[in-house]
Amino acid sequence: MKIAIGSDHAGYELKELVKKHLQEKGHGIRDFGTDSTESTDYPDFAEKVGEAVAAGDFERGILICGTGIGISIAANKIPGVYCGLVGDCFSAKASRWHNNTNVIALGARVIGPGLALEIIDTWLETKFKGDRHQRRIDKIVEIEKRYSQ
Ligand code: RB5
Repeated sequence: MKIAIGSDHAGYELKELVKKHLQEKGHGIRDFGTDSTESTDYPDFAEKVGEAVAAGDFERGILICGTGIGISIAANKIPGVYCGLVGDCFSAKASRWHNNTNVIALGARVIGPGLALEIIDTWLETKFKGDRHQRRIDKIVEIEKRYSQ
C-alpha cells in the first residue's frame, strides 16, 4: 500500500519506528518529515500528508504528534481527509469499518511503540463496511461541501 507519513518533533522517534516497520512489511512509504527532534509545528506536517492523501497520491496517511490531537485537527481541515485520532485497536478497527478513515493520528506521548504498531497494522488491514455507514459518510461529505464555499 502507498502510505504517506509525517510527524512533528514529538512524534519523530515513533515515526521512524513506524516507517521501518511498514517498509519491512513491503509498503511503499513516503516520509513528509520532520527529520529530527528539533521543535517544529504540527500543522505543517498535517497539511503535507493530508494534501498528498486527498490528491489521491497515497491510499493512506499516518500522522504523529505528542498527543495526536493537534495534528488530527489540522489534517481534518483539508477537504477529502478523514482523520481519526486513535489510541486503541478497537477504535482503529472501527475507524475503518464505520468511518472509512483515510488518515490516522497517533499520540507518541500517550501510547507506547508496541501498541502504536498494533494499531497501525489493524487499521491498515480493516476494510470499510459500507451500507448504513456510507450514508453517514455521505452526510459528512455534505457538511464539508457546505462549509467549503
Ligand atoms: C508539541 O509540544 C505538542 O503540542 C504537539 O506535539 C501535539 O501534542 C499537539 O497537539
